[in-house]
Amino acid sequence: MSFDLVFFGGTGDLTWRKLLPALFQAWRHHKLPEGGRILAVARDERSDDEYRAFVRERFAAVDSSKRPNEAEFDEFAQLLHYRRMDLSRPEDYTGLKAWLAERGADTALMYLATSPYLFPVICEQLGAAGIVGPHVRIVLEKPLGHDLASAQQINRVVRSVFDERQALRIDHYLGKPAVQNLMALRFGNALFEPLWRREWIANIQITLAESLGVGTRGDYYDRTGALRDMIQNHALQLLTMIAMEPPSSSAADAIRDEKLKVLRSLRPFTPETVARDVVRGQYRAGSVAGQAVPGYLDEVKVPAGSRCETFVALRTEIQNWRWAGVPFYLRTGKRLAGQDAHIVVNFREVPHPIFPGTRRANRLVIKLQPEDGLELHLLAATGGSRDELLSPVSLDLDFDRAFPSERVGAYERLLLDAIAGRLNLFVRSDEQEQAWRWVEPVLDAWNNDPTGPRPYAAGSWGPAAASALVARDGCAWAEEQ
Ligand code: BG6
Repeated sequence: MSFDLVFFGGTGDLTWRKLLPALFQAWRHHKLPEGGRILAVARDERSDDEYRAFVRERFAAVDSSKRPNEAEFDEFAQLLHYRRMDLSRPEDYTGLKAWLAERGADTALMYLATSPYLFPVICEQLGAAGIVGPHVRIVLEKPLGHDLASAQQINRVVRSVFDERQALRIDHYLGKPAVQNLMALRFGNALFEPLWRREWIANIQITLAESLGVGTRGDYYDRTGALRDMIQNHALQLLTMIAMEPPSSSAADAIRDEKLKVLRSLRPFTPETVARDVVRGQYRAGSVAGQAVPGYLDEVKVPAGSRCETFVALRTEIQNWRWAGVPFYLRTGKRLAGQDAHIVVNFREVPHPIFPGTRRANRLVIKLQPEDGLELHLLAATGGSRDELLSPVSLDLDFDRAFPSERVGAYERLLLDAIAGRLNLFVRSDEQEQAWRWVEPVLDAWNNDPTGPRPYAAGSWGPAAASALVARDGCAWAEEQ
């Protein structure tokens, strides 16, 4: 299957930092379909060779195991092309159309790795130039809007040119191997599904912790904040995967319909519940892995006195029969104690304990990163004296070790799916809008709340109020257990 993949924003960070390295990996693993062309589009004038030299230089910053050697790069670079475009000029799209027509590939993928304010103009111009046939797909990178109204506006324009099945909204967390495994765990095995409900599960926690700060992205981040940057998309997508009903098939819409139902069942926030159930924080100077690091307000491009949140912890519930009354805790933050993304499913305690000593409920930990695996925490007999009959043990599954040669990174997976037209791991517009609808009352409540985010020391697990939030229900975060 031949394809043309066009990167709008072809010289931007996302393209050279994530997308091209992912394509290179796909090429190296012989997964990239033969007969592909990759076209980078940007504003300045360059030849194909100059662009290839630019990418070669940038690849030096890529993680060494993923970096091509000279010979590999030379071969891969033959796929790369460059085209100068002014994104508002119709003639430039006519030129692009002619370039695509030169070969008439089976699939033409327009990847919008630009700032989202350019999405409408690019879509309209693609439409006007007639780059819209059924073989064309458009990939939209986050942030997809800033709130519900702006997301709807982008979706309206996209819909006026492409149909829903041609529009692929990226949430790169859905491409992470652990998320595939979550689907496999729930719907490929009979073991857990009967237990996957309120009768057996006490609470579920989703943690997306980063030890990094905002780096050089202070200006972008300050307009965004942790709720929009991580909760509205990544954390909620994980929550839908954990909580959805078994889909009737593995077809994209069967899955997305179920995910949408979860989003629609989330308990809506009110100003009172935001005050009670949502904690926002902002990091102060501290130390991460033994290194002193500045506070958020001292990061480059962060405006003085900013009230932007770099941490959010919240409690919610899903209002349906399966989950009624089960707390779901979501937490994310920058400059936390570790780089650690995981989901913890805390089961209920045994209904009638007969062993003295340790009473600990079972726990399933789905590890997303840095490791990718599962841990099932159980109690087992130690064979010791009667008082310490049971001890905690865990069954560990390390997917990197179990399937060493088959691991595929998130962007690699999503790019290959986009080329092949597999939509399962892309977010449908109604899901995305529903997620905005749910977070908006939080943003509104914060806007009207003079207190601002709570400070926390860089290198900690966030404000103490986040621990109090779960302690109120008699629970604790994983690192506190
Ligand atoms: C991005 C956010 O979507 O996800 C970043 O904009 C964040 O702020 C990143 O650092 C985290 O992704 P990952 O895959 O490194 O956990």
